[in-house]
Amino acid sequence: MRVLSVNGSPRPQGNTHLMLQRICGHLSKAGHEIDEVCLEEMGIAPCRACMVCAEVKDGQCHGHDDACNGLLDRSRAADVILLGSPVYFGSVTGQIKAYMDRVGFVSRVTDQFLARKIGAAVVPARRAGELFTFAQLNMWFLINGMVVPGSTYWNVGHGLREGEIAGDQEAMVTLDELAKNILWLLEKLR
Ligand SMILES: Cc1cc2nc3c(=O)[nH]c(=O)nc-3n(C[C@H](O)[C@H](O)[C@H](O)COP(=O)(O)O)c2cc1C
Repeated sequence: MRVLSVNGSPRPQGNTHLMLQRICGHLSKAGHEIDEVCLEEMGIAPCRACMVCAEVKDGQCHGHDDACNGLLDRSRAADVILLGSPVYFGSVTGQIKAYMDRVGFVSRVTDQFLARKIGAAVVPARRAGELFTFAQLNMWFLINGMVVPGSTYWNVGHGLREGEIAGDQEAMVTLDELAKNILWLLEKLR
């Protein structure tokens, strides 16, 4: 099955990437197809509330001429969507928020294509704000009718500089256990 891994950090190889990779490594090993997205590299602008998606209902975003429509197609095609965002001032990054608003809104005003996909979030932080940010990402899954597997702890970790998250052993075990639960769910869906 297909996994879309969405990195909302402006650092393509940073801690968010490492957390997403930790999960994707297990899913890929089990034979699932991984589609990786780094939002910073795509330059996805925020939703401008033009509402054309709700009028035209063609499953596309008409608000900006950027890469969002390709991302909409990739999101629609996925069975699992992984969202990763570092904590920025106690909250998600602007990059991931733009994805959530635009893809979530198009899904809601059309055929709810996000419903019943599996969703899981990962959040690195230097020190604090990780649970609020984790909750923000999970709220998006839940309002879109997605199924959210858990782990043995919340999927958060601590590190400041790029790569430091690898030293958070408890976070790595949490991600390994999360991957097992995603695989279990995928097996039920297959
Ligand atoms: C603009 C900005 C705001 C940040 N705000 C917070 C914060 O509120 N709490 C925190 O613990 N870390 C904060 N951080 C640190 C990052 O969350 C942390 O370095 C994280 O590991 C970065 O992940 P990345 O390597 O995937 O970008 C902030 C970093 C930046 C650049």
